[in-house]
Amino acid sequence: MSADIWSSTDFPYMCLKDKPRTLAFRQAIETVVRPGMRVVDVGSGTGILSLFAAAAGATEVHAVEIDPMLARALRHTADCNGFGDVIRVVEADAAAAELPAADVVIAELIDTALLDELQVPVLNSLRDRGVVTDATRVIPGVYRTYLELVRSDHEYYGFQIRAPKHEWPFYGETGQGWHDTSVEAVSDRVLVGAYDFEAGWVAPEHRSIVSFSTVAPGANAVRISGEIRLMDGMVLGPTNAVNGDKILPLELVDQGASRSFQVSFAMGQGLGTFTMEPVATA
Ligand SMILES: C[S@@+](CC[C@H](N)C(=O)[O-])C[C@H]1O[C@@H](n2cnc3c(N)ncnc32)[C@H](O)[C@@H]1O
Repeated sequence: MSADIWSSTDFPYMCLKDKPRTLAFRQAIETVVRPGMRVVDVGSGTGILSLFAAAAGATEVHAVEIDPMLARALRHTADCNGFGDVIRVVEADAAAAELPAADVVIAELIDTALLDELQVPVLNSLRDRGVVTDATRVIPGVYRTYLELVRSDHEYYGFQIRAPKHEWPFYGETGQGWHDTSVEAVSDRVLVGAYDFEAGWVAPEHRSIVSFSTVAPGANAVRISGEIRLMDGMVLGPTNAVNGDKILPLELVDQGASRSFQVSFAMGQGLGTFTMEPVATA
């Protein structure tokens, strides 16, 4: 397995355990997948989304998983659920695997703001190779990324820690063994990107000026958050396994009523590609 591929057997299991996330995907799959359809599920992990597609009547489900241990387990899972003839497990990088044109592509290679996981590079590659066509339904259809200035306590155990913070809902408000982290919004929440996977190729890099219209004093970090739009009326914000808020400490001027920043990042190339520089305003 190549070192630049994001994979672990832990996170797919967290996804399986995450009921709000998984049940929302099930509802979207049951709405979109019709008997006789051909489905491609990229980054199939435990295979739960492939099973939903097979149970919804797909006659072919191509489950693409790069991790050999997960791919092997998924073959057993397909067999023991009676879908051995429907679910074809492809142990490969979804950006390179040989796959047919699909009626439905399921792609849950999602992390907050699509920075670490390969959702965008994989879907762009599937489109380039005719697996995703203009007629293909993609689940989820749209991802939206937001930024917000925040004031956060950076002190841990008596030290100032300027590392990125990954604020998962399961850390809870009151600790339960976790160190508390206070995070208070000091600006409006601005939509910086809406990526429509059914509309076409998604730009692999983002570069824009982001302006916050209200900024209270005290900003010392930016909160990166995201939303998965599964279908009309079904939007998934942070759950225990996807879309946890990311808080990046910033050296920001903490005065003034409005702030503009040059923001750039590369899809699927890591949180380290995210930069946010103040832009002088007249
Ligand atoms: C976040 S998990 C999601 C699992 C499953 N889609 C679900 O929603 O329950 C992402 C999975 O994608 C796999 N993966 C990551 N990059 C991949 C790639 N380029 N090609 C195929 N699988 C990949 C990982 O090994 C992992 O199992």
